[in-house]
Amino acid sequence: MRRPIFAGNWKMHHGPTEARAYMAAFAARWTPRTDRTIIFFPPAVSLATVVHALGARTDLSVGAQNIWTEDKGAFTGETSAPMVKDAGGRYVLVGHSERRHVFGETDAQTALKCVAAIRNGLTPILCVGELLLDREAGRTTDVVLRQLRAGLAELSAEVVASIAIAYEPVWAIGTGKTATPEDASVVHADIRKALHHSIGDRAADVPVLYGGSVNTGNAKSLMAAEGVDGLLVGGACLDVESWARICDT
Ligand code: 13P
Repeated sequence: MRRPIFAGNWKMHHGPTEARAYMAAFAARWTPRTDRTIIFFPPAVSLATVVHALGARTDLSVGAQNIWTEDKGAFTGETSAPMVKDAGGRYVLVGHSERRHVFGETDAQTALKCVAAIRNGLTPILCVGELLLDREAGRTTDVVLRQLRAGLAELSAEVVASIAIAYEPVWAIGTGKTATPEDASVVHADIRKALHHSIGDRAADVPVLYGGSVNTGNAKSLMAAEGVDGLLVGGACLDVESWARICDT
């Protein structure tokens, strides 16, 4: 049984001051429970603030939205995996659609970022997803599996079994358009099959999250969809109450 994961990607919202207030409000609202994993992905500049705000609470985890491929050096503006680890992060999103499509991140870079994460004890959540034109051209599976295979290319089977995947159709991100639970199930099944092909039965350990316009109204039906092990949420996680309700799904 894979434990459900609820991951909130704040994107470029909530600097340290807002992050502190948000975490205080969430910590007061949310009673610890052990049947699910909840992860916050604040902007890098707020990461330490969020970790600090959690204090001794171990039921809530923190991750970075992105890392660079190298551990240190002359890479102005970037954050390394050791820095995320040092700040108290445990997870990192790799290959988020905005990294790929706004900032031009390549499949090869996602592979190196997964390696950098693992090398430094962070759990990568590899994000994959097709553009609308890919879907309309019937290329959804091709694109998603290409991103999946490329992102995992440098990892051993044992390591792949320890990470997570997020399927986020690009056309559903921030658009209010959600994949139907059936759409999500089809792609999740493709991902699971491809994982099984490359790492065998250990594929059963890999959680596959859905993301793209998840909100309090659709979280339940998406979580109930076959093959959906968790949710990666953008806009709807920015409000404490709506995020708490989604985490309660
Ligand atoms: P929205 O929930 O705002 O569509 O964003 C999804 C996302 O990109 C999470 O990583």
